[in-house]
Amino acid sequence: MPADCPDTPLPARERIVLGIETSCDETAAAVVLRTADGRGRILSNVVRSQWEKHRPYGGVVPEIAARAHVECLDAIVRQAVLEAGIDWSGLSAVAATAGPGLAGGLIVGLVTAKTLALAHGLDFLAVNHLEAHALTVGLTEGRAPPYLVLLMSGGHTQLLLVEEVGRYARIATTIDDALGEAFDKTATLLGLGQPGGPAVERAAATGNPHRFRLPRPMLGRDDPNFSFAGLKTAVRTIVAAAAPLTATDVADLCAAFQLAAAESLGDRTRRAMATCAPRLAGTETPTLVIAGGVAANQAIRQTLDRLAQSSGWRLSVPPAPLCTDNAAMVAWAGAERHARGHRDPFDAPARARWPLDPAAKPALGSGRLGPKA
Ligand code: KG4
Ligand code: ZN
Repeated sequence: MPADCPDTPLPARERIVLGIETSCDETAAAVVLRTADGRGRILSNVVRSQWEKHRPYGGVVPEIAARAHVECLDAIVRQAVLEAGIDWSGLSAVAATAGPGLAGGLIVGLVTAKTLALAHGLDFLAVNHLEAHALTVGLTEGRAPPYLVLLMSGGHTQLLLVEEVGRYARIATTIDDALGEAFDKTATLLGLGQPGGPAVERAAATGNPHRFRLPRPMLGRDDPNFSFAGLKTAVRTIVAAAAPLTATDVADLCAAFQLAAAESLGDRTRRAMATCAPRLAGTETPTLVIAGGVAANQAIRQTLDRLAQSSGWRLSVPPAPLCTDNAAMVAWAGAERHARGHRDPFDAPARARWPLDPAAKPALGSGRLGPKA
């Protein structure tokens, strides 16, 4: 967490928070209400993808992303406040993603949020993007910690024990690529374009997952860490051998990739569940949460749902549009921390790297900058 303003206990009351998200290639603003007893409601949720601006380059270009946030963030914030049907005096705080992510974009969102908070006499919160993904189920279904979360985005693949809001223990991480990155690179190899995850999922829908045999990385290993670089390399080798690919080849490869990714995730997560079960023993039914952009994938959701059911766990997963980047999750993480008496100073910095568990050993996939954060 950033250098904190001292936490002061606040009386239980309703709060309405404006959230701003600019860590990568989505410009987003949202207004969320948190009731005095901790339930959440989205009052507005505006997301604008910049993808068309990055398409010619085949990946997110940091400077183009920052410039695009500057161009549209004001209008998006105005739209979010208007659609929420509130005026500025109804807000308690402004929250913005402060990291991890692309520094230029983070600075645009942070400076905007700080200016709005100062101008309207509101509190300011610097939100960790990973924390926002991890806490989204509190907003969507009132799920409270403790739980185990499998967080899968463009730059991260981690299993974290969410002990309480603000306290996270990393159980596992990828030792090379993030899963979202592997989806995106596979899409590029197969000529499907970006964003890669949804494109691979669409192509996989008509494919035969058993025609090509891809590796299941880390299968059976004692530690629950992930690895996806070998999977991507295996796809590259097949593509080189089978070129030119027919539409059926592409569909079959996508289906095989998705199945291998899902099975690897299932195996690693089963290990982590075994490790964490004693730490969740106090809860009625232990909960596995999945979050981040890759959690929008239906095949992966189904695999983890089956795993949870067969293990006597409950699976919690936000609706797909709240798995991918959005500002409602940022507003909610801000509201959760504000309700606990927290606010941040106006000199809170942008943090390109910002691991959620500061005690965990640094690892490649635990906060590095990828094509997405
Ligand atoms: O959380 P997110 O929107 O942004 C980051 O914080 O990185 O995650 C983006 C990642 C991208 O790699 C994207 O290809 C992947 O999530 N993704 C998907 C799906 N939708 C988005 N991967 C697989 N299947 C999907 N349906
Ligand atoms: Zn994200």
